[in-house]
Amino acid sequence: MSPLAITLDFQRGVLKPCNNVIQRHLSDMRGMYLDDTATEEAIGQSDPLLYEVYQYDVPFETGQLLVVTTVLQPGKVGDEYYMTKGHFHEKEDRAEVYLGLQGQGCLLLETTGGEFKALPVEPGIVTYIPPYWAHRMVNTGQGEFIFFGVYPADAGHNYGDIEKTGFAKVLAERNGQPTLIPNPKRQKR
Ligand code: F6R
Ligand code: ZN
Repeated sequence: MSPLAITLDFQRGVLKPCNNVIQRHLSDMRGMYLDDTATEEAIGQSDPLLYEVYQYDVPFETGQLLVVTTVLQPGKVGDEYYMTKGHFHEKEDRAEVYLGLQGQGCLLLETTGGEFKALPVEPGIVTYIPPYWAHRMVNTGQGEFIFFGVYPADAGHNYGDIEKTGFAKVLAERNGQPTLIPNPKRQKR
């Protein structure tokens, strides 16, 4: 394929050209937040848009890279901040880089071996997601949380394991502050 240049709007997170846009609403994340009653109420009222993903697709082949931005809305389900679904890569040994562009958030990471990490992200922070680490972003701020990512095009996504188990910790508001708490819904792998 030919080399190409893509415009990244640092304020809005939009890529141009962009040939793959995904929107995730709360109804796409049933059961992933702690408060199922609050989830169903919010779905019944407006089924809010939680985030949009703008990706420039190239062939999903070894050696190729995908560039992608995510625009994660501010808000909470119950007292838990809006977050991405989170995933392992289907090829688990594929790494990823995220760069914060707008807003305030936190990157949650964990391994199947039981390690867990939380890294605060703001504009200018580059985070490195090593092979074998599941990753989820959480918007802990008042405005949109926007981040850019680059990852191997053959990585693929395994959402199923996180859907089943959740992450070890979740980010909820406690005394007005984003606070990491143990996930009471956590299932054993
Ligand atoms: C790609 C990647 C990000 C996420 C995006 C949405 O490997 O990590 O581009 O795909 O932030 O999150 P998920 O995919 O977890 O819904
Ligand atoms: Zn990923």
